[in-house]
Amino acid sequence: MAGGRGTRLRPLTHTMAKQLVPVANQPILHYAFSSLYEAGIRDIGVIISPETGADIRASAQLWQPADVTLTFIEQDEPAGLAHAVKIAHGFLGASPFVMYLGDNLIENPLTDLIASFRQDPCDALILLKSVDNPQAFGVAQLDANHQVVGLEEKPAQPKSDLALVGVYLFTAAVFEAIAQIKPSARGELEITDAIDTMIAHGRRVRATRLEGWWLDTGKKDDLLEANRVVLDAYCQPNLAADVVQDGAQFRGRVSVGEGTVVRNSVVQGPVSIGKHCVIEDAYIGPYSSVGDGSIIRKSELDNCVLLERCHIEGIPTRIEQSIFGTDCQLVRNEQPPAAYRFMIGDQSVIEVV
Ligand code: DAU
Repeated sequence: MAGGRGTRLRPLTHTMAKQLVPVANQPILHYAFSSLYEAGIRDIGVIISPETGADIRASAQLWQPADVTLTFIEQDEPAGLAHAVKIAHGFLGASPFVMYLGDNLIENPLTDLIASFRQDPCDALILLKSVDNPQAFGVAQLDANHQVVGLEEKPAQPKSDLALVGVYLFTAAVFEAIAQIKPSARGELEITDAIDTMIAHGRRVRATRLEGWWLDTGKKDDLLEANRVVLDAYCQPNLAADVVQDGAQFRGRVSVGEGTVVRNSVVQGPVSIGKHCVIEDAYIGPYSSVGDGSIIRKSELDNCVLLERCHIEGIPTRIEQSIFGTDCQLVRNEQPPAAYRFMIGDQSVIEVV
């Protein structure tokens, strides 16, 4: 599911689809694709919106291995997750399928879930995770035998703290249920209502508790946390063959892309530095991701996410827990500075702490 509107990650999503916001230098959507791929799935339908569909398509094609078929299905408006499944009926046919929200990521491999779905057949297998703020999610109510008795979408008064994770397995029985539901108060055909209808009609719906981590980048508005978790889980020491290292110290797990130059600098992993970057007289601290084409000189970064082509230079104080969008510049030319000059996009935040 890579349609919808991305309002919660503003200002980044003023200019990009929320599923393309990079985590550890890769769009979050690519992790979902890779998870499907590792589970043996080679036929992937991608729900796209008219606004961001072209970007999603281009990014998905960059990821696409030769043995995968991608089918793009345009949804005119974000009319709900069940609506997205409905318009994908032609693509899905009678096949069981995995529905994966393009801004979600789970630690557990899908292989185990698919095996469980096959071994103990049901019409829907949902994943649940205890959360502190169930009001922000679909919420499941279980009986004493851990059977799902009902689901509610973003209830004001949740009946449990068990949130629905954005990965679901269905048989084609879900289409009958979707045909019977009406749009919710927020005007969407909710997948939670469709699953509730399946339960009401005696279809078997199973729930399993997710033990590993779960990221919902579209919701949590916490890209730094997602970046930290993903760098911890996936970052491997990997320097491209042509990286220029001139007085560079790489400590811990550091990955550096091709064409990057690192001079007289310390990089303390886990850190992911993209392609064609210049790092000079700098310190890049743990849990930082530096997008392709960025320049960092005479500055120190710690726990930062830089999208592509950022330029940071001459900043005397360490920059920490910060997010820079594409083509951002933070440059100090004169010592000491005579003035500050800003051009700050909508809904940006600058904190001097
Ligand atoms: O993240 C888990 C939650 O995802 C669940 O707990 C909720 O039950 C479920 O409804 C969903 O809630 P969100 O409010 O987070 O959904 P969101 O609108 O952010 O959409 C999730 C993804 O699906 C996102 O990548 C956009 C895409 N989408 C969404 C809608 C509504 C579509 O492609 N089409 C749509 O019509």
